[in-house]
Amino acid sequence: MPTAPEHQHVREVVRSPFPVPFGWFQVCWATELAVGDIRPVDYFDRKLVVWRDEDGAPHVNDAFCPHLGAHFAFGGSVHGTDLACPFHGWRFDAAGRNTLIPYSERTNRKACVRTYPTVERNGLVMAWYHPLGEPPAWEIPVVPEFNDPDGYTPMETREYEIQAPWQELAENGVDAAHFRYVHHTEQVPELESYETEGPRTSMRSIQKFPTPRGVVDGRIDADSFGPGFSVIRFSGIVDTILMGCNTPVGRNRCHMRFSFTVARLGDDALSSTVGQAFVAEIDKQVQEDTPIWQNKAYLARPALADTDGPFTRFRKWASQFYAEDVDDSQLVYAPAETHESAVVETASRRFGSDPFAD
Ligand code: FES
Ligand SMILES: [Fe+2]
Repeated sequence: MPTAPEHQHVREVVRSPFPVPFGWFQVCWATELAVGDIRPVDYFDRKLVVWRDEDGAPHVNDAFCPHLGAHFAFGGSVHGTDLACPFHGWRFDAAGRNTLIPYSERTNRKACVRTYPTVERNGLVMAWYHPLGEPPAWEIPVVPEFNDPDGYTPMETREYEIQAPWQELAENGVDAAHFRYVHHTEQVPELESYETEGPRTSMRSIQKFPTPRGVVDGRIDADSFGPGFSVIRFSGIVDTILMGCNTPVGRNRCHMRFSFTVARLGDDALSSTVGQAFVAEIDKQVQEDTPIWQNKAYLARPALADTDGPFTRFRKWASQFYAEDVDDSQLVYAPAETHESAVVETASRRFGSDPFAD
């Protein structure tokens, strides 16, 4: 008896209405990419490579060679400012053009690799992704605190892979009420202002921070530059600056990276202790948020309280980053499966590195 094809049909669950947003996104930390390195990464529902040429410039391009499809990161090599394929030695420049076929007199003008504008700034390597190949529409700013080794501690990092769409994670920033219930902070942060302008948002708020020595009044000032890059300044305990980078692996999965620095207090043992306590608190908050994010439904029309944060303005701001169709056929978009918390154990947690200590 033939097997009935209808039994094999699995309806794909639409997890969210949203495609992958466009913008600048972190693809690695600068220290992870030495000259000549070629790293395989999966972002934007694509296979990519991040590589550094012999002049020191980082590049991002599609992973597969246009000749016969080899993955550049598995045996490929860097020659000057060209990338060489491991399979038959073809070379490509930073614009993705074929510059050499070692066994031919000619190059192949049609053999083109898709490339992504790439910058190294604030210790991060960031690539511009746009599904239709549009050029960058804004810049990633220099963050002074991450370029001031005398005034601020070396960068401390954390990273997480979270099975949820970009927008669901980003929406956390305007959700003041969840801090009390998910993170058990003493008080809901008091929003002073929330402004959006083009790709930017700026949020100013007052927050009480729990510390080992009691609750301290503080501020949180958060600035976003598109969907992939936010700078959050915490003050009150000790000035701590966080770059939050949320890179879509695909439409339903994110790689979130945090880079912290703490103002040096003269007494570096203190900035080390306070900084570590702060990083541990933020890390704990992500682990508390993760099961909510991974298992929640996206509601097109949430039932909000009048004292909830500026969700509507946030969603309007977020909507500008979708160049492809947004699915508006449903009111409720639920995840396909239930998830255990899936927080990645990072190298610095596993090996107990102590970048705050001098
Ligand atoms: S597959 Fe890359 S050179 Fe042949
Ligand atoms: Fe949270």
